[in-house]
Amino acid sequence: MRVVVTGGAGFIGASLVRRLLDEGHTVAVLDNFWRGTMSNLASVSTHPSLTVIEGDVILADDLQRCHDALGGVDVVHHLAAINGTKWFHEAAMEVIDVNVNGTLVALRQALAWEARFVLASSPEAFGENERMPLGNVDTSQFPSAADHQRFSYGASKYLDEVALHHAVSKGLDGRIVRPFNAYGVDMLGDAYGQVVGMFFQAVRQQRPMAVHGDGSQTRSLTYIDDIVDGFYRAGHMDAALDGSSLSGHSFNVGSTEEVSIRALAEAVNRTVGSMAVDCVLGGGYFGDSKRRLPDTSTAEALLGWSCKVSLEDGLQRVWNALQAGP
Ligand SMILES: NC(=O)c1ccc[n+]([C@@H]2O[C@H](COP(=O)([O-])OP(=O)(O)OC[C@H]3O[C@@H](n4cnc5c(N)ncnc54)[C@H](O)[C@@H]3O)[C@@H](O)[C@H]2O)c1
Repeated sequence: MRVVVTGGAGFIGASLVRRLLDEGHTVAVLDNFWRGTMSNLASVSTHPSLTVIEGDVILADDLQRCHDALGGVDVVHHLAAINGTKWFHEAAMEVIDVNVNGTLVALRQALAWEARFVLASSPEAFGENERMPLGNVDTSQFPSAADHQRFSYGASKYLDEVALHHAVSKGLDGRIVRPFNAYGVDMLGDAYGQVVGMFFQAVRQQRPMAVHGDGSQTRSLTYIDDIVDGFYRAGHMDAALDGSSLSGHSFNVGSTEEVSIRALAEAVNRTVGSMAVDCVLGGGYFGDSKRRLPDTSTAEALLGWSCKVSLEDGLQRVWNALQAGP
């Protein structure tokens, strides 16, 4: 298949691109390198079936360059977005602009190309819904917009989902994947990054791990290969396992092993053994969710997806790769 991956130089995108190439697909990546890097794609950068285009997903012409490079598009995996909690507060308008307008442009292009579309949404699209586990079609709950900017991201993903469903009503074959806290080796360990990356970075620099709040907030941490498998199945299965249409469905893709951030820090310390570091509690972001746990039954029933890598195994894989790496 001819596949466009927007945000393909990012953390999840680059892993998805590697999987697509392994499976024999032809891939065009569109990324403006806001956060993604060519080093994420280093292992496939000379692959004959990969074209990397530097461009902005907000610009239809840049997306069209991907179409032209491939000679047509069968599937769009739309992952380009401004992601990273610090940005939600520091650059709320850019987050809204890229995440909403980029998705509208990508949806219009996919409709025009008659391509299948997979939207990378987020559990944050549910806002402050505290009912756990989160179902696939649960209610989204957002507080007053005057309260804070945290929801520049979650609300943008909610609008993305609304736009996708509208496009489906206009004939798009559209599917939604909601990754729950992906982690893996290529993750950024900077202040804008994800918690597992930040903890391993602290270990490598032999400084304390910064655990936000009292560390009792929980997350479902999902190893990157399992996340990529969710995107792959959502994008490349013509129909559900039972033969029904996948269009208009959303899939929570995440581990159901709920872990507190404090317990995660302890698990990272167990993984790194003699390099264990202290934890410092405090700080964090206003509006951070207390719990995040997916109901993955739809992904399991319709896509045959399941989470295969335990947290213990995943952390060990990351640590082994970090030790073997440059
Ligand atoms: N990582 C997670 O746990 C997680 C959880 C829920 C949802 N998601 C969603 O999955 C997708 C991928 O997440 P990720 O963790 O790989 O994030 P990431 O930041 O590593 O990747 C996003 C990519 O989009 C690119 N990008 C940003 N603005 C762009 C623009 N205007 N034009 C073109 N490219 C642009 C960035 O440079 C980056 O390479 C995002 O849509 C994110 O919101 C991720």
